[in-house]
Amino acid sequence: MIWVVGVEGQLGHELKCLLTSESLERESVFTAVHECDITKIDTIRAVVKKHPAIKTIVNCAAYTAVEKAGEESQRAFAVNSEGPGNLAKVAAEFDLTLFHISTDYIFSGKHFTPYKEEDDASPLSAYGASKWQGELAVRAFASRSVVIRTSWLYSSYGHNFVKIILEKAKKSADANANVNNGNLRVVYDQIGSPTFAGDLAAAILEISKRELQGHAIYNYTNEGITSWYDFAKAIVEIEGIECEITPILSSEYPSKVERPMYSVLNKSKIKQEIGIKIPHWRESLKRCLCQIQKRS
Ligand SMILES: NC(=O)c1ccc[n+]([C@@H]2O[C@H](COP(=O)([O-])OP(=O)(O)OC[C@H]3O[C@@H](n4cnc5c(N)ncnc54)[C@H](OP(=O)(O)O)[C@@H]3O)[C@@H](O)[C@H]2O)c1
Repeated sequence: MIWVVGVEGQLGHELKCLLTSESLERESVFTAVHECDITKIDTIRAVVKKHPAIKTIVNCAAYTAVEKAGEESQRAFAVNSEGPGNLAKVAAEFDLTLFHISTDYIFSGKHFTPYKEEDDASPLSAYGASKWQGELAVRAFASRSVVIRTSWLYSSYGHNFVKIILEKAKKSADANANVNNGNLRVVYDQIGSPTFAGDLAAAILEISKRELQGHAIYNYTNEGITSWYDFAKAIVEIEGIECEITPILSSEYPSKVERPMYSVLNKSKIKQEIGIKIPHWRESLKRCLCQIQKRS
C-alpha cells in the first residue's frame, strides 16, 4: 500500500489521479494537511498505525511559497526540513520506504552545465535552504529513501506559472488592453526545464515498483531546456491567444528572492537505472493545457 502525503497539492493530486485510475488501482491512502500535518510526528504515526499495510510513503507536502519563505522561515523550515525528518523517523520505525521530492533551488544555478545528483548543494534562498535541510534529514533518519529533485512544476491543479500566464494572456487578449503597461513581461535570462506533475507522478510510481535498498537520489524534469519567456510564449501559442509577451531581465522583475539563473538537471541516471522515457516539455505542456480546458 502506498501513502500519498499532501494530496491537495499539484503533485499529490496527480498521484491520486493515477493511483485511483482503473488501469492502476493500487491500494493507496491519501491525506491532506488537516488529516496529517507532517510537522507533528504523532499525526504521522497515527496514519501508519491505522493502515498497517502501508509499505511506501510519498511526501508531496511542502511549503512552496518561495517569495515568502524568507519572512516565514520558521514555517518553511518546519514543513520542508523537520516535516520530512519526522516522516523519515516514522518510516524507519515501521520499516517503510520514503519518497521525498526536492528541487533545483538547492543549487546556486551558477554552473551552466546540467546539475548531476552528486553536485554540491548551494541554495540561494530560504526556500532552497529549507528543502536542502529536508533532504539531509531524510537521509539521516530513514533507512530506505528516494529523493527526486524536480523543477518548474505545473499541473492543471493548483497555482502555477502555466495557469497564471493563461489567465493574464486571456485577460489581455479579451480586453485588448494593458497588462503591466501594454503586455506581459516575462524573464528570459533564467534557464531551466518545466515539469508536468502528471509525468513526475508516473515516474515516482515506476520507481516505487522496484526493490529499493539504502538511499537514492534522482533528477526528474521533462526533456528540453527553455527560459520562462519561451515557456510563456509556448503557452499562448499552443492556446492560440493573441497576446504580446516582452522578454525582460531578472533584474527588471520585482522579487525578494535570488533564483538560480541556470537550473537544468541532468537526467541520465534516472533514464539509465530506471529506464524511464521522459516526454519533451512541449508535448507535456500540450497535454496539461488540454486537461485545463476540459476542467474549465
Ligand atoms: N512548484 C514547483 O515549481 C516546484 C519545483 C520544484 C520542486 N517542487 C517540489 O515538489 C513538491 C510538490 O510541489 P507542489 O507544487 O505539488 O506543492 P503544492 O502544490 O504547494 O502542494 C503542497 C501541499 O502540501 C501541503 N502542506 C503544507 N504544509 C503541510 C504540512 N505541515 N503537512 C502536510 N501537508 C502540508 C499544502 O497544503 P496548503 O496548501 O494547505 O498549505 C499543499 O496541499 C514539493 O516538495 C516542492 O518543494 C516544486
